[in-house]
Amino acid sequence: MKFQKRSHTCGQLRKEHVGSEVVLNGWAHRVRDLGGVCFVDLRDRTGLVQALIDPSKFESIDLIRHEACLEVTGVVKKRAEGTENPNLPTGDIEVEVTGFQVLSESKPLPFPVSDESAMGNVNEELRIKHRYLDLRRPSMYRRLAIKASATRRIRQYLDGQGFLEVETPIITKSTPEGARDYLVPYRMEPGLWYALPQSPQQYKQMLMVAGIERYYQVARCFRDESARADRQPEFTQLDLEMSFIEQEDILQLNEGMVRSVVNGIIEEFGLDKEAVGEFPRMTYAEAMDLYGCDKPDIRFGLTLFDVSDSVADCEFGVFKNTLEAGGKIRGVRYPGGAKLSRKEVGILEDFCREFGAKGMASLAVESDGEGVDLGNGLKVRSSIAKFFTVDQLKGIVETAKAEAGDLLCFIADGYEAGNNVLYRLRLEIGDRLGLRDPRKLAYMWVLDFPLVEFDAPNNRWSSMHHPFTAPQPEDLDMMETDPGKVRAQAYDMVCNGSEAAGGSIRIHRSDVQKRAFNLLGIDEETQSGQFGHLLEAFSFGAPPHGGIAWGIDRLIMLLTDTENIREVIAFPKTGQGTDPLMQAPSPIEAQQWAELGLRKA
Ligand code: AMO
Ligand code: AMP
Repeated sequence: MKFQKRSHTCGQLRKEHVGSEVVLNGWAHRVRDLGGVCFVDLRDRTGLVQALIDPSKFESIDLIRHEACLEVTGVVKKRAEGTENPNLPTGDIEVEVTGFQVLSESKPLPFPVSDESAMGNVNEELRIKHRYLDLRRPSMYRRLAIKASATRRIRQYLDGQGFLEVETPIITKSTPEGARDYLVPYRMEPGLWYALPQSPQQYKQMLMVAGIERYYQVARCFRDESARADRQPEFTQLDLEMSFIEQEDILQLNEGMVRSVVNGIIEEFGLDKEAVGEFPRMTYAEAMDLYGCDKPDIRFGLTLFDVSDSVADCEFGVFKNTLEAGGKIRGVRYPGGAKLSRKEVGILEDFCREFGAKGMASLAVESDGEGVDLGNGLKVRSSIAKFFTVDQLKGIVETAKAEAGDLLCFIADGYEAGNNVLYRLRLEIGDRLGLRDPRKLAYMWVLDFPLVEFDAPNNRWSSMHHPFTAPQPEDLDMMETDPGKVRAQAYDMVCNGSEAAGGSIRIHRSDVQKRAFNLLGIDEETQSGQFGHLLEAFSFGAPPHGGIAWGIDRLIMLLTDTENIREVIAFPKTGQGTDPLMQAPSPIEAQQWAELGLRKA
């Protein structure tokens, strides 16, 4: 079959093309046969245009079903007055068809490609199974285009700063980023395995020893961990590393890059987002105190407060017992929450229980009504008010900076357990009050992470970031004596409550790296077996270095307001880590089992 190549793209046609003869290629996005006339919305990657066919002139018109692939010739006409479509860039014109050819017919579709509003009801596995159809939807194309623009802009920015893009191996050895590895058997010697990299971490550090000084890579990473809304087993990082720099250099470079990449995309795609502004900085300890987590959403205030001191001598058993056990009484304000019914407060309490809270105590602050009068124009109403003196209630209200109309919500628990509930409760309140404005991109840095955290079930210290992260010089002496207090030269870039990027200044001396391994309980044998190459590399004049990695998929989620990372990946895995399109994972042939020296369990 011969086909004529397009003279124009569908999305390109405007009033100035009226009178032109055009040849278009594309798909039948929507077909409406009105008897005397048939309308076909023809779609290609650039957009849609309405084609008008007179059925009496053609025989094979019934082959033009949804998503058939077409070649259309015709003449561009101005649409009749009143029939223009202002929602379509090509909406002032239509193409009067003089000839067409069905290049390829389409079977009935498993789900509608043309109706975005119906997609919410389509089973996601079905979408992934027919991803080539799902990706025909203009909204999916746009997300891929935004992703491509992001990597293009990242490359432009970093190339301009003297970085070298270097590829590192995919078939390699396990890197300890904290997840499970995907393993690949080595055919030549059964029993030996490769691992797919969780990140290019060790290679990029060795590139610094190699004198590359400024490296980056748009790197695929593999982590065998359970999927979440913002996590895929296979994802893409922008990975970078620099030599002869300090933390401040990395922060500034990345701020510049975010501004350049994100603001560029906002402009290019006309996104309804405010340009990226300042990057406030906060220590890990401040983030935990004020927001209950290390990835605060700072689009709104309502920071957490601690009333432990105000209620130290109260009669409320739950608070008293928690304080005696070394816990804290902390809370969050819910503006307007004073008017919630008992049942609605109960729902909020259940929300807290879902995340491990033993309960949620609350106080309504009002300007009038039945509550305890604080003598400052405010009254406090609560079933637990009777357990507190007026001074204690006043202390609570002052600490919380409460206003009339607030519901003060309290969680009594250990500091970390309390944070785990309070940060979610704060976000829930923010959501309810519409304070998490999707137009805002509230970037920020969280700095001074602890080097290690205690892993109680396994009774050992484990890295907060990874074992190559450098301690802060002034805390170095505590590595052996008080490891929990040692702060790392580690930083996360956070946006709207999600971790956008993470990195650190690295250890570049074998002796300090060994101390770090010792602290983590990695014995001598494992040190030389697992990391011998790195320790050896460090013994040949390793430069001071550090870096960071961004989650590119997460960046695109943020820019496109998508809730699930699968929506920004062309061929994603399901929640179970499978690919229903390729049907992977899949069984292998008997001969492959034998060749690899493997036996079924
Ligand atoms: P980290 O493990 O913090 O650091 O990863 C860096 C960034 O990658 C993104 N990310 C993910 N995105 C999608 N799915 C996942 N499963 C996933 N896991 C992580 C996040 C995260 O901020 N080698 C270090 C970086 C360094 O120290 O330079 C590393 O990989 O956005
Ligand atoms: P109780 O004494 O268990 O009947 O609880 C009285 C109130 O305190 C209820 O509103 C509980 O939800 C709340 N409560 C119980 N445990 C906690 C806790 N750990 N933190 C905050 N409030 C709690």
